[in-house]
Amino acid sequence: MKICSLADSEDQRVAELIHRSLVDWYGKNLGQGARFGDRSEPFLLFPRVYRELDPGEALGAFGGDGELLGVCFVHPRPTHVSVGIVATAPAAAGRGVARSLLAPVLERAAREGKPVRLVSSLFSLDSYSLYTRMGFRPGAIYQDLQFEVPQGGLAVPVPESAKRVRLAGVDDARRIAVFEQGLRGILREKDWVFFLTDRVLGWRVWIVEDPSGALSGVLVSGEHPDWGMLGPGCARDPESAAALVWRALDGRRGRSSVLLAPARETDLVRRFYGWGGRNIELHVAQVLGTEFPEAGLGFPTFLPESA
Ligand SMILES: CC(C)(COP(=O)(O)OP(=O)(O)OC[C@H]1O[C@@H](n2cnc3c(N)ncnc32)[C@H](O)[C@@H]1OP(=O)(O)O)[C@@H](O)C(=O)NCCC(=O)NCCS
Repeated sequence: MKICSLADSEDQRVAELIHRSLVDWYGKNLGQGARFGDRSEPFLLFPRVYRELDPGEALGAFGGDGELLGVCFVHPRPTHVSVGIVATAPAAAGRGVARSLLAPVLERAAREGKPVRLVSSLFSLDSYSLYTRMGFRPGAIYQDLQFEVPQGGLAVPVPESAKRVRLAGVDDARRIAVFEQGLRGILREKDWVFFLTDRVLGWRVWIVEDPSGALSGVLVSGEHPDWGMLGPGCARDPESAAALVWRALDGRRGRSSVLLAPARETDLVRRFYGWGGRNIELHVAQVLGTEFPEAGLGFPTFLPESA
């Protein structure tokens, strides 16, 4: 097996592999393959976004005949390295493909003295076991909550702080990055610049400020027709988080949206149930190496998994 950077010309094969691995794994193990649709095209977003953000950091595992066996996307940041998504072709499952893809990533992070961070499914023992066998330590649990926002908007009381939510501009990137580092320990300014400047894939970056004008939360909303997730984001307190999520959902009327909400924020999660949120999966944050002290609330996402 050979591990090397993926060329741009591999995008189609990469999208097909990610789609096939998810449909196959969730189909066989949970009877939920249909969740991922019947088209691989939406999964082209992964290689495209990641080439923009982290050129040369998408890895492929190739068999002797040039067959693509697995992929893994790496996100080196000043404070840490994140990994996601990792996927193995169903025919090559259980043969060490994912482990072989991760090994050089972990070695490099260790050389650079950086922790490796990711979010893994608690529905997939293959994924959970892969990382914990390699030394990752599980931490915060997240609930994947799905919302269907009617055309008329959510019929719920508007959170008090929603009036202080607005769309961020490019000038806010540095401020957001510093805010996130203060709360969550990670620095990833290039991600914020990307969300605020990319005009191809379409993102909205919502921020909320407290009455003194200080930032108290940020949340990205993916607006591309093939991408329905809210996040990444973080907030100083549950009220700021509720205001951001309400505003982002209100901007997605008639669409389905998924948010990874911190499971320990039980009052907020119950508020989200009241907004029609339904649990569709559980994820857990995993870290190999130093864990940063975390304050506030984090909202990770699968694109980019750079938290
Ligand atoms: C998760 C996934 C990437 C694993 O890929 P893979 O190439 O089959 O994994 P590997 O063979 O390299 O490693 C699996 C490891 O988990 C171990 N493992 C699997 N199930 C286990 C279990 N129930 N208990 C303990 N260990 C287990 C295997 O023994 C192996 O460890 P080892 O190398 O130390 O023996 C693959 O199942 C996949 O593509 N799933 C669909 C896409 C997905 O969900 N990706 C994860 C996104 S975070």
